[in-house]
Amino acid sequence: MSKKLANKIALVTGGSTGIGLASAQVLAEQGAKVYITGRRQEELDAAVALIGPAATGIRADASVLSELDNVFATIASESGRLDVLFANAGGGDMMPLGDITEEHFDRIFGTNVRGLLFTVQKALPLLSNGASVILTGSTAAVKGTASFSVYSASKAAVRSLARSWALDLKERGIRINVVSPGPVRTPGLGGLVPEEQRQGLFDALAEGVPLGRLGEPQEIGKTVAFLASDDASFINAAEIYVDGGQAQI
Ligand SMILES: NC(=O)c1ccc[n+]([C@@H]2O[C@H](COP(=O)([O-])OP(=O)(O)OC[C@H]3O[C@@H](n4cnc5c(N)ncnc54)[C@H](OP(=O)(O)O)[C@@H]3O)[C@@H](O)[C@H]2O)c1
Repeated sequence: MSKKLANKIALVTGGSTGIGLASAQVLAEQGAKVYITGRRQEELDAAVALIGPAATGIRADASVLSELDNVFATIASESGRLDVLFANAGGGDMMPLGDITEEHFDRIFGTNVRGLLFTVQKALPLLSNGASVILTGSTAAVKGTASFSVYSASKAAVRSLARSWALDLKERGIRINVVSPGPVRTPGLGGLVPEEQRQGLFDALAEGVPLGRLGEPQEIGKTVAFLASDDASFINAAEIYVDGGQAQI
């Protein structure tokens, strides 16, 4: 069977672990050349080794605009264009109202919103007409979660940006969609609590999912690859939940 993303050039920000890594793997399996970014060089190198020859790592912090410039300059000089952009770098930690600090707000919005916005904007000159842009949202955007308000609001902003950007990108036929995972077994999710509380968190989150389990990163990756492909040619400005039903009940 022919590969659905043969000859496509893709960028996955935050592609060194978790959802980004699994998505980069699926994109590469489908034939794409995949650039991945992350801040930690060691994790980036390990991810490139895992994905194989289709992968190139570029160390970059998505919240630092000069580092984003370097990512796109590298892709421009090596590949000349970008067909798939998965703006996925992000994360958050927990802080209840009353304790929220400026640092907490600036760090989470700095990556999840400001970094994502400038990732997409700086990619525009390289994006081919008909390219697919995919943003990582979260079910947290539409559910209340104690101590998670700043993260949740940042993901609501991501979903909102996609609605307007679909219009801004109209003339170029670029599709933009949001993938919103429910709880997915990643280092990022596990890192929300100390090691000894991890299993308890995973069990509690699985309870809230109609399918009774956490998602696996590859399940998000398959959806990303679908949205990246021509099979999704009329899906635009949409939000696709990959959450086992968590936010649908
Ligand atoms: N896991 C879940 O349950 C879940 C649910 C809904 C949404 N999400 C979203 O899914 C995305 C991926 O999360 P994950 O669970 O896969 O977490 P993860 O395992 O911690 O992976 C995050 C990836 O992003 C990179 N990253 C983080 N901040 C970055 C920055 N400022 N610049 C560049 N790279 C950065 C990390 O590498 P470095 O740390 O080395 O930079 C890593 O490669 C995030 O946007 C998250 O909010 C996750």
